[in-house]
Amino acid sequence: MTRTTIPLPHLVGFTERAGTWYAEELALGDLAKEFGTPLYIYSKKALTQAYQAYDRACVDANGKRRARIHYAMKANSNLAVLDCFLQLGSGFDLVSGGELARALAIGADPQSLVFAGVGKSAKEIAQALKAGVKCINVESIAELHKINSVAKELNCRAPISIRVNPDVDAQTHPYISTGLKGNKFGIAYHEVLKTYREAALLSQIDVVGIDCHIGSQITNTSPYLNAVDKVLDLVAQLKKEGIELHHLDLGGGLGISYGTESPPDITEFTNTLLNRVAERGFGHLDIVLEPGRSLVGNAGILLTQIEYIKPGVEKNFCIVDAAMTELMRPALYEAYHGIVPVHTKAIKSATYDIVGPVCESGDWLGRDRTLAVEEGDLLAILSAGAYGFVMASNYNTRPKPAEIMVDGKNVYVIRARENTSDLFASEQVLPK
Ligand code: LLP
Repeated sequence: MTRTTIPLPHLVGFTERAGTWYAEELALGDLAKEFGTPLYIYSKKALTQAYQAYDRACVDANGKRRARIHYAMKANSNLAVLDCFLQLGSGFDLVSGGELARALAIGADPQSLVFAGVGKSAKEIAQALKAGVKCINVESIAELHKINSVAKELNCRAPISIRVNPDVDAQTHPYISTGLKGNKFGIAYHEVLKTYREAALLSQIDVVGIDCHIGSQITNTSPYLNAVDKVLDLVAQLKKEGIELHHLDLGGGLGISYGTESPPDITEFTNTLLNRVAERGFGHLDIVLEPGRSLVGNAGILLTQIEYIKPGVEKNFCIVDAAMTELMRPALYEAYHGIVPVHTKAIKSATYDIVGPVCESGDWLGRDRTLAVEEGDLLAILSAGAYGFVMASNYNTRPKPAEIMVDGKNVYVIRARENTSDLFASEQVLPK
């Protein structure tokens, strides 16, 4: 399949009507006029529907809760997005003191927070213990001992879970695979039992759970089920040894369609996992899911304007005002995002590489796209709600774009566009 025939992903919040693209009830062209470009736009309806699909699957036919959602805020940590999920009943998965501060800023219950991450500092561990998080996910024996000593200093107990590295191939991009023994994440499968025994002897540690996350943008459920089975084998063995766990955290990772992928839908995926846990006799555990991308990925787009059309010797370039600084995924993972003109025009189409103004040949957003466009036109870069704005940078002293959220006919600025002067306001030249 050539790139030009890749279908568009199914979108809930963004639609084309009579040759014009809309975010819910608002025309993208009007939003560009009002808020400028580049511009991140999120649909509240799309966020809500994705969350509700998970939530429905987390409750059984008798209305009993089978699992809880802890949104992985690394995917998109804007306070308005977090608050939207908080209002829907979500907990959160955090990976830094900064993310903890965001969760507390929106008033999340600390008992709804799990704190993961491979290199937590003593300061971050102390912040999490003082806040009273539900659990700290341990990724190494050295970290286990650091948590114990920080808890001793604070004269408190530390609830922990051990992140298992199950050595399962998630069949995704190598940069976002995390469950193989060559990855830096988690404790090697054969060392997990030993680590639990060690943890159970430490004075300040409460062993409460077990967790696992094998990677992201996973489109096939079978590696996930392999990992679940391996983790459940450990839970059974621990039980025999008298170490009773209270929760089982299965991580995130469900992929979305950017065009060609056909991942299982949220309900089917969640049911498959939860049914497996129940069949194996562990349905009584408090089950935690940590989805990120599947909640926000297709709920956001990046709107950009064409600065120049530049015919080249080998390629034609469509130079836009967004760049790798706004959306890093193509440069970093050669990721594909659908790109559509906001207005359909009856002009001749041509094949372009869509590139930004940054001084790097890796600064591209789409390759070999056939578009009927001219200078000044707007393009919507689709499926940009996850790992878009959060991975933005100020490289080339480029201010970060604004973010807005659309709710029906209403629109809210949820992060103002940065000013150039703010970017170097905290810098100093040496005294003369
Ligand atoms: N839990 C843990 C422990 C994780 O490390 C992650 C993602 C998640 C949950 C959420 O995974 P999700 O449901 O979003 O797949 N920047 C990359 C993705 C990095 C994912 C990192 N960990 C990208 O743009 O594709």
